[in-house]
Amino acid sequence: MSASQELEQAAKNYATEAIRLDKQGSKGMAITMYQKAIETLLKLAQLYPDYNLNKVYIQRAMAYQERVGTLQGVGPVESRNEQTSGEATPSTGKEKAGYDELVLKEKPDVRWGQVIGIGTAKKAIKEAIVYPVQRPDLFPLGWPRGILLFGPPGCGKTLLAAAVATEIDAQFVSVDAASIMSKWLGEAEQNVARLFNSARKTAMDGRPAIIFIDELDSLIGMHSNEVGGETRVRNQFLKEMDGIVDKGKNLHMYVIGATNKPWVLDWPFIRRFQKRILVPLPDHSSRLGMFKLYSDSLKLAEGIDVHGLARFAEGFSGSDIRDVCQSAHLKVIGEFFESGKANDKTAQPRSISMDDFKHILENRKPSVSVDMVAEYNRWSNGFKAL
Ligand SMILES: Nc1ncnc2c1ncn2[C@@H]1O[C@H](COP(=O)(O)OP(=O)(O)O)[C@@H](O)[C@H]1O
Ligand SMILES: [Mg+2]
Repeated sequence: MSASQELEQAAKNYATEAIRLDKQGSKGMAITMYQKAIETLLKLAQLYPDYNLNKVYIQRAMAYQERVGTLQGVGPVESRNEQTSGEATPSTGKEKAGYDELVLKEKPDVRWGQVIGIGTAKKAIKEAIVYPVQRPDLFPLGWPRGILLFGPPGCGKTLLAAAVATEIDAQFVSVDAASIMSKWLGEAEQNVARLFNSARKTAMDGRPAIIFIDELDSLIGMHSNEVGGETRVRNQFLKEMDGIVDKGKNLHMYVIGATNKPWVLDWPFIRRFQKRILVPLPDHSSRLGMFKLYSDSLKLAEGIDVHGLARFAEGFSGSDIRDVCQSAHLKVIGEFFESGKANDKTAQPRSISMDDFKHILENRKPSVSVDMVAEYNRWSNGFKAL
């Protein structure tokens, strides 16, 4: 076993034991065990600073810490008995609030026009969601319900999902998988069930519902042992996905999953997403569009060569390009304040020059490496489904 696997196993053992003692009412011993679990989880998080599940470890450690607080009489006193089984229990106010914190139901206000490039992904999403919602009668063989967007970070997966929701006036339930996993042991699968139930209700009332699960890979543990109940959550998720296809034949209920790490997903998971679409790094013309979009509200010097910028920014993601525009702007603003001119309320900063942009671009590396791009292409060649 690797060091991380050992720690994970230990954390799991401590936590299971803590919860058992907690249920039994052995406060003191439960606290000790929770504390050991916390210590181990934090150690684990420090071991590989970039590891995907670290967020989950830390959030879980915080949850245990909160429980310790409650047991010590600092926090609100509440029974843990509802944790006894995976079955639905009448939800307490607190539990409900916890679920509501997880999901974002507000309508994101993103228009198609704000999503630059990624034509293939847009087209596939229209065919899979937008058209069936408009004219279900034209789809006698049904339509896909699960869409997986994969690709390097910062290229518009989240943005695209939000744009679809705006386009078809759907209920958009957005949740990031790491936060599903971070709840108390045994509660994560209930959260998955709640998520799907809520969407189903909306769809049955005749309004389309889109469940957007960001960082989908976090639903699956990379190791065989499960600290966070990964296996149960995963099975619940697969069950819910099947439910949409079997029972919800005419319902407009969709699941869009996004991941930067598609290779973490296994086949049972992958195949539930009938559409699997690569959202790649922007090409030249997309980078051009992004520079235009993100410098639109900025004051640019005459004769800025936007094509030149798009060329310089080869390999940059959409989010990199937005950052570059922001940095160029901040550079000019910073100089303005340093010069003391800002004290004169009528004075205005100078406009942003090509050199400002070049300076920023030269001192910045693309956030996605060439090797990573090759990895995405390889995975796409094996698993894409348009
Ligand atoms: N295709 C794009 N068009 C316009 N802006 C983009 C695009 N891709 C990324 N961005 C910018 O970067 C930010 C992060 O992108 P996001 O959609 O969260 O990427 P991902 O989900 O693929 O990691 C967006 O909010 C947007 O400002
Ligand atoms: Mg995202």
